[in-house]
Amino acid sequence: MAIIGIERILYRVDDVDRSIRFFEDFGLPLLDRDEGGACFRLPDNARVDIRAIATDPVPGSQIVGIGVHEIVWGVDTAENLERLVARLATDREVRRDADGICHFVADGGIAMGLRHWPEKRQIFAPTEPVNSPGNLQRMNVHRRWIARARPKGISHIGVISPDIEGLATFLRERLDFRLSDRQRSFAVYVRADGVNDHHNLAILNANAGLPGMDGTLRFHHVNYVVTDLDEMMAGKNHLERRGWPKSEWGIGRHRIASALFCYFPCPAGGEAEYGADSDALDDNWIPRDFSPMFGIAHWMHDLPGFLRDGAEWDVTFAADGVPTKGGIQPHSDL
Ligand SMILES: [Fe+2]
Repeated sequence: MAIIGIERILYRVDDVDRSIRFFEDFGLPLLDRDEGGACFRLPDNARVDIRAIATDPVPGSQIVGIGVHEIVWGVDTAENLERLVARLATDREVRRDADGICHFVADGGIAMGLRHWPEKRQIFAPTEPVNSPGNLQRMNVHRRWIARARPKGISHIGVISPDIEGLATFLRERLDFRLSDRQRSFAVYVRADGVNDHHNLAILNANAGLPGMDGTLRFHHVNYVVTDLDEMMAGKNHLERRGWPKSEWGIGRHRIASALFCYFPCPAGGEAEYGADSDALDDNWIPRDFSPMFGIAHWMHDLPGFLRDGAEWDVTFAADGVPTKGGIQPHSDL
């Protein structure tokens, strides 16, 4: 184990004030603000840094446009940090700053950093008991009522890359990331070795031919973890009451990662996602290979045109995962 999560992300934006307002309404706790930007600190002690792209560009970042321009991975021990830095330094510059961040540029042009992260807090966010037919877990007790979403930490970043396999290979070979799943020719999902998240980086194919994907390296989205569907909805309603544009896809559940999602257009770039109830993985997980349409959603509350006819069952184990006989069989509805 070495990398234990996303320690901080650095947004580079064209409208600092609007970005700060959005994240306050989104539910991130403001830690610090000055003339040039702001810093938010999440309950797990991950940080979100907002600065203007014009005045504070991230050295080495080749990401086109606004959004997250640097991802700093938290490392469990000082020894493991030095071990990873030594491996990186064999073929690239690693620059250490006063905060202890060792900055480098990953293959493909994404600025990243490594930092020993003793401040990481383990979050315990229990769900409400759920009643279902014959399974009464909540007797004479109503559910908790909340007004706001309060994200607990950062689960993953989505980037659009013209070389998805190159970036995934770099992370697997140089930083010990694990392959989680593939969405065939559309995306690769990888996780750090010291977490149980389904993925910490979703690498989307810049040449997939979809809107917003023009063959160049771009930021796509950040997933902020909340407890459950109720917290997602409370956050969604609050953002709408504050005048922010509605989520285009609304709420749904991905088939890949099984995670609940709700994406919002984000003035700091790309989208900000509330996420909950994702699959949790360790090294016993067998990576899968999905057709893009089948993997994208189990359900969506407002079915988009591209899923109107459903998606054919199309998933198998990844060729570079651990192959098993028989593949993955359809589930019964009951
Ligand atoms: Fe996501």
